[in-house]
Amino acid sequence: MEVIIQPSPDAAAAVAARIIGDLIRRKPDAVLGLATGGTPCGLYKELIRMHRQEGLDFSGVTTFNLDEYVGIPPGHPASYHRFMQENLFAHVNVPPGNIHIPDGNTPDIPQFCARYEEQIRQAGGIDLQVLGIGHDGHIGFNESTSSLVSRTRIKTLTEETLAANQRFFAPGEPVPRHVITMGVGTIMDSRTCLMLAFGEGKAKAVASMVEGPITAMCPASILQMHRQTSLILDPPAASLLTRTAYYQHVFANKPDFQRVSAFPVI
Ligand code: PGA
Repeated sequence: MEVIIQPSPDAAAAVAARIIGDLIRRKPDAVLGLATGGTPCGLYKELIRMHRQEGLDFSGVTTFNLDEYVGIPPGHPASYHRFMQENLFAHVNVPPGNIHIPDGNTPDIPQFCARYEEQIRQAGGIDLQVLGIGHDGHIGFNESTSSLVSRTRIKTLTEETLAANQRFFAPGEPVPRHVITMGVGTIMDSRTCLMLAFGEGKAKAVASMVEGPITAMCPASILQMHRQTSLILDPPAASLLTRTAYYQHVFANKPDFQRVSAFPVI
């Protein structure tokens, strides 16, 4: 796993956007796995800027989102359909027919989930999956104790995740208990994973993921078994790692062909 520590969330988002921009320029029909939540907002802002100012072209790109709540309409202010529209899709040129987000109102959830997996396969698999991490180490909505080989399916959220996501709902409005999420195995099938994590609140989950044992108690820890995962952190999110000097040394001494050169090493 590659650990990249940047001076700020904005600097981290710029590195992540550059990695994605390079991928799209190299492979115009790239398949992106996308995430929602507070973490990727800066990344999406930077991709929008690159689209507007640098002509980054999304016209051949296909996207699959990680997850969606069950039972709220797509236009609900907290729905991930709405989030993606507002934070990315309304501002770049991904063709609407290439956008896939789980349908939280499907009448047949198991059938929908099997079809979502099939659509990912038919698209050629996910080239790069954007990820955040929950305070408990979840990825997508795969809470602690999720099967580490799970596929897209319905999940029940923990009380902690319900509380963490209450901020996206009106005061007093209940957060849906159920979600559809790509499984841990679905995420592991992506060719590359790009995780962002910011703030002290994520430090414990980040340390467990990178330096702890592989365990379903921290589903993100399975990324230790992923062939190409980059984790981009701000200093508070990196604060509980023990090998920080080594990660910085690796980043500073990359062979030229691997270098993300324009970004500072701190
Ligand atoms: P956040 O959520 O980006 O809103 O912190 C991350 C997650 O729960 O996966």
